[in-house]
Amino acid sequence: MSTPIVHLSRKYTFSASHRLYTDHLSFEENEAIFGKCANPNGHGHNYQLEVTVRGNEGGVSLPAMERVVMTEVVDRFDHKHLNEDCEEFSALNPTVENITRIVWEKLEGKFGTSRLVRVRVWETPKTYAEYTGPVSYLF
Ligand code: NI
Repeated sequence: MSTPIVHLSRKYTFSASHRLYTDHLSFEENEAIFGKCANPNGHGHNYQLEVTVRGNEGGVSLPAMERVVMTEVVDRFDHKHLNEDCEEFSALNPTVENITRIVWEKLEGKFGTSRLVRVRVWETPKTYAEYTGPVSYLF
């Protein structure tokens, strides 16, 4: 008999600024690729983060999950300039794809017997990136 697998997700928010650019390109080329995100002094987003875990039979401890996500991600990134204040992005463009992957790295293995299966980060209400790890445990 197969055991039903249920995923649990929780949403979080953080506000941060960033600048997307590469020194290898001119300002015009950066702007053509990254649009408003190439603004020289950066600009802000209200990010939404969705963390999905797969629980064991005992379920997922929500207070424990909350502590981990707040400590590892939200408290680090909220009200920061990602390029300037966060060493994770000192040499890595803080695109929504890269933020999503970094969040995964910070959370993976931190939920005890529950397993992280997906991280989604919305940069705008219309745009999000999703990462399910180097190997997908989602299905
Ligand atoms: Ni932006």
